[in-house]
Amino acid sequence: MKKIIVLFSGEGSNLANIIKHIHNQHANIVCTITNNPNAGGISIATNANIPVLICDNTLYANREEYDTVLVQLIQKHSPDLVVLAGFMRILTPIFTNSVRSINLHPSLLPAFKGSKAIERSFQSDETVCGVTVHWVNDELDGGDIILQKSFTKDLNDTLEEFSAKIRQLEYEILPQSIIHLLT
Ligand code: GAR
Repeated sequence: MKKIIVLFSGEGSNLANIIKHIHNQHANIVCTITNNPNAGGISIATNANIPVLICDNTLYANREEYDTVLVQLIQKHSPDLVVLAGFMRILTPIFTNSVRSINLHPSLLPAFKGSKAIERSFQSDETVCGVTVHWVNDELDGGDIILQKSFTKDLNDTLEEFSAKIRQLEYEILPQSIIHLLT
């Protein structure tokens, strides 16, 4: 079976969704890696008996040193694909030139690259919003698009309601993209 590694920084709801829909069916998650020792996703992976490597970015002097270690950890497993599911790091060419990875982003790229994309797209005048899975390259949120899904913004929605719609689409397109790329 194909091997994937999932990287995350926070709550890990997309990790949980990948475990549910991909793990041991379409691919094996051979390990997960987080930069955040307090990430909620750690217990999600552990409960599914998937190894978690905590690689704390605050212990490294700069992005290059951190990415060098990250690449070494990843290459030990020779994964077919690396999935960034809420991995909140800007990656250097040390990573992007040696790791075949995809990223989930909560906007219709190229709109709203970078952080706080949900809040910015909610507050914007854009009427069509959505989510993107794209290849990772050395331009932040700038790699080729693999899959996008959109919806028309309901101007009566609260930020929480809007976020829930984004999340729902994320739970659809990330597993779909992984399956598409691995089969
Ligand atoms: C998701 O909304 C994902 O699109 C976003 O982080 C969240 C992670 O949630 N990623 C980015 O903003 C990347 N720039 P999760 O930890 O519950 O999966």
